Amino acid sequence: MTAKLHVSSHPLVREKLTRLRDERTPPTAFRDLVDQIATLVLYEATADLALADAEIRTPLAPYEGARLKEAVGLVPVLRAGIGMVEAALDLLPEAQVWHIGLFRDERTLRPIEYYNKLPSEATAQVCLVLDPMLATGGSATATVDVLKKWGAKRVKYVGIIAAPEGVATLSKAHPDVPIHVAALDDHLNEKGYIVPGLGDAGDRQFGTG
Ligand code: PRP
Ligand code: URA
Repeated sequence: MTAKLHVSSHPLVREKLTRLRDERTPPTAFRDLVDQIATLVLYEATADLALADAEIRTPLAPYEGARLKEAVGLVPVLRAGIGMVEAALDLLPEAQVWHIGLFRDERTLRPIEYYNKLPSEATAQVCLVLDPMLATGGSATATVDVLKKWGAKRVKYVGIIAAPEGVATLSKAHPDVPIHVAALDDHLNEKGYIVPGLGDAGDRQFGTG
């Protein structure tokens, strides 16, 4: 498995993930858990962001502090990635959000792009792709393809559950892209669903399906 794969070992992540996976968890609680798990995985995924010195004054004294040096772009993959945006913006309030719309063709499992809201120029030094599920890896690979063609230099994938197949596909196509997830599951079933997984992340967040 790739050296760029980071699977959280935080006990809170494991506990929240158990509730997220539970088939009895309704959409309201599911969305809340996606938000909380995304916060924890993003905290780990942003640990190497560069800082620039920033001098300020507290009410008592001068203080040599720090601000983020590089602009960060958030790239949620519709639909399921939407649920991770709020958490990312809470941590990175100045980030821009660029939506990419992809869905998997149910028969071929290949991603079909239907929406792209990237600005004309790559204006962020770091792009965080947000999508809870890395299954075959087709959607994540297609998203990173689009970002790199557009001019993105540094891309990270931030998700919740990955299958080994998806990790292998994404890291083969884009070995420079670190993968940060809450869990690495066992395998994909014949319909391309992650097992044990959580089912369809979009349907469970939005009460469809
Ligand atoms: C899900 C998920 C990923 C994709 C992962 O989206 O959010 O984007 O599947 O599968 P892959 O790794 O095999 O490409 P889906 O196609 O179900 O669309 P939706 O979020 O609109 O329901
Ligand atoms: N997309 C999902 O939402 N769930 C899976 O298990 C695989 C792809």
